[in-house]
Amino acid sequence: MGYPANGAADKPLKFLIYGRTGWIGGLLGELCRAQSIDFEYGSGRLENRSSLEADIAAVAPTHVFNAAGVTGRPNVDWCESHKVETIRTNVVGTLTLADVCRERGLVLINYATGCIFEYDQAHPLGSGIGFKEEDTPNFVGSFYSKTKAMVEELLKNYENVCTLRVRMPISSDLSNPRNFITKITRYEKVVNIPNSMTILDELLPISIEMAKRNLTGIWNFTNPGVVSHNEILEMYKEFMDPHFSWKNFTLEEQAKVIVAPRSNNELDASKLKKEFPELMSIKESLVKYVFEPNKKKTGA
Ligand SMILES: NC(=O)c1ccc[n+]([C@@H]2O[C@H](COP(=O)([O-])OP(=O)(O)OC[C@H]3O[C@@H](n4cnc5c(N)ncnc54)[C@H](OP(=O)(O)O)[C@@H]3O)[C@@H](O)[C@H]2O)c1
Repeated sequence: MGYPANGAADKPLKFLIYGRTGWIGGLLGELCRAQSIDFEYGSGRLENRSSLEADIAAVAPTHVFNAAGVTGRPNVDWCESHKVETIRTNVVGTLTLADVCRERGLVLINYATGCIFEYDQAHPLGSGIGFKEEDTPNFVGSFYSKTKAMVEELLKNYENVCTLRVRMPISSDLSNPRNFITKITRYEKVVNIPNSMTILDELLPISIEMAKRNLTGIWNFTNPGVVSHNEILEMYKEFMDPHFSWKNFTLEEQAKVIVAPRSNNELDASKLKKEFPELMSIKESLVKYVFEPNKKKTGA
């Protein structure tokens, strides 16, 4: 059983979504429209409790989705020099929204991050042993990840919250500069490390289904398995551009061009796979949801 504290199961669905102008929030709205699910975007700021209360009173949602947060522009290094702003939204804001939703008996689907782990002795790179939902975050190398790990720990106490650990999100829109594939095809040099990743075209519809099922708790929200930078770029070359080439560099060389270290890890997606047996492995999903549709579009 989920968390039907407000009897939401009997009411027609009505979603309240935060993150209207964001990547994930925008995609969620498109999905709701496509599935004819009634929804509205929240207009409040996460850290302003009364504005969230006003949104909930006006919209009367059955479920709330939080795709609002600061990730930093052009990248998470921004958070290193904007610590208070990062705390305001990602810590104060996220906790306030969870608290208001709990008071109203509402499930909150929270798009969080899996960038709170790094390969370690018990979960070595290449071992296939991924971090599980109950594992304690071990990556606090960047301020962004550190605060996200703290918030996850606190949100565990909210029985109305569904925490989705998203990683290195990828969508079929290869023109979007936020897309992990687009990013690595544009970098001058890339590292080459296997990671767990989230194919949004496959997983965002699953998050809507998770709301319908009133699922709560922590979920590794990635496709099963890992894929490396070079494997993705090989696929890009095969499907999109036979002349594409790239240069690799080491983690030590990468460290010289970024401010904060980045997380590299494998998450164990077996909990999600058990709930959604149709979930595809990362490499299958990349082909089905990203590369094949784009190849058709370009007629390559
Ligand atoms: N993209 C990634 O690589 C990635 C990876 C893992 C997890 N995630 C997580 O997924 C969530 C969504 O990511 P995204 O890539 O879709 O982010 P995004 O494109 O940067 O969008 C962020 C959204 O949050 C809103 N927002 C920021 N501060 C707010 C506040 N205080 N109150 C209300 N709204 C606020 C922004 O609206 P305004 O423009 O009005 O501020 C914007 O609509 C984030 O929490 C992020 O940490 C992202």
